[in-house]
Amino acid sequence: MFVQRSKLLFLYISVICLGIFVTILTYASIAGDKPDCQSVFPHDVPLQDLDSRQQELDRKLSQLRDLEVTLRRSYPQKVAAIEQIVDDRHVPTIYVITPTYARTVQKAELTRLSYTFLHVPKLHWILVEDSPTKTALVSQFLSRCGLTYTHLNVATPPVFKTKSADPHWLKPRGVLQRNLGLEWLREHLHADTANGVVYFADDDNTYDIQLFEEMRYTKRVSVWPVGLSGYLRYESPVVTNGHVTSWFTYFRPDRAFATDMAGFSINVRLLLDRPEAVFKNTVRRGHLETNLLSAITTMGELEPKAHNCTKVLVWHTRTEKADLRNEDKFKKRGFPGSNPDIEV
Ligand SMILES: *[C@@H]1O[C@H](CO)[C@@H](O)[C@H](O)[C@H]1NC(C)=O
Repeated sequence: MFVQRSKLLFLYISVICLGIFVTILTYASIAGDKPDCQSVFPHDVPLQDLDSRQQELDRKLSQLRDLEVTLRRSYPQKVAAIEQIVDDRHVPTIYVITPTYARTVQKAELTRLSYTFLHVPKLHWILVEDSPTKTALVSQFLSRCGLTYTHLNVATPPVFKTKSADPHWLKPRGVLQRNLGLEWLREHLHADTANGVVYFADDDNTYDIQLFEEMRYTKRVSVWPVGLSGYLRYESPVVTNGHVTSWFTYFRPDRAFATDMAGFSINVRLLLDRPEAVFKNTVRRGHLETNLLSAITTMGELEPKAHNCTKVLVWHTRTEKADLRNEDKFKKRGFPGSNPDIEV
């Protein structure tokens, strides 16, 4: 009981300190942005001094971010309260929709992904299981991950399922799951107040956290290169004079939007305004993305990010399937296999 109370006390004190720091920092940075900063800093502060003050603020901000991550991880049940205190209302939320399915490496993948997301301020994770029910593994994982999340599930009907012998690109994957994520957004956000951007992040890719700041202020649709994609070093929009003019891909560069799922983000209001924009299970292979984007934008409106699409900030990594052959060998020799009660 005593331990519980002192833990709680620590939480409250930490959260209050965090709130005070954030408030001070917010005012300091607003003051720094204003042209009349002389009212805050004296007239004759040497530029060098301002630089070192800026560095000091940056250092403090980064310490606060670390403290926020520690608090989220230590008190996953209090994430809403922590978020409320650190919330900068004007910063757009990044809604990340991730389809996921049960397999031996699932928890490892989700753990890695959640650790990336913990470093991204104002991120709301919409995790959608390809399953007729919400599994215990994913439910428990989410409840202690420290992120703001929404847990959904929908099973892909067998006709649309990739069989293990099929190449991974044969049938579009995660269609129903991404659509359910979109449906949730359309049900829970209002077009006149929503402030955010939607990104489809598969659970096996690798993300540089800078990518999220690139996409955060997307006006309509942002695009950028994707590393290790399409059997190339990278696939990318081709940018001429700051505008997307074509696509660097080997496969069907004539597609209107020849981008990978990991290569674009959409302003959430655009999706709320266009309820008909959804992914379709029936499109030709490799056309999921272009089909959706054609319904909401044009090439001329695309916003190239990542230094005019010259930086790779996301990689299409694929985790090897777990090879469990020795589990069977154990059983053949009359030994029990591993303990099924130990979750992996
Ligand atoms: C992108 O290209 C445009 C046009 O050439 C240029 O004005 C702009 O500064 C570039 N942006 C970056 C971040 O390099």
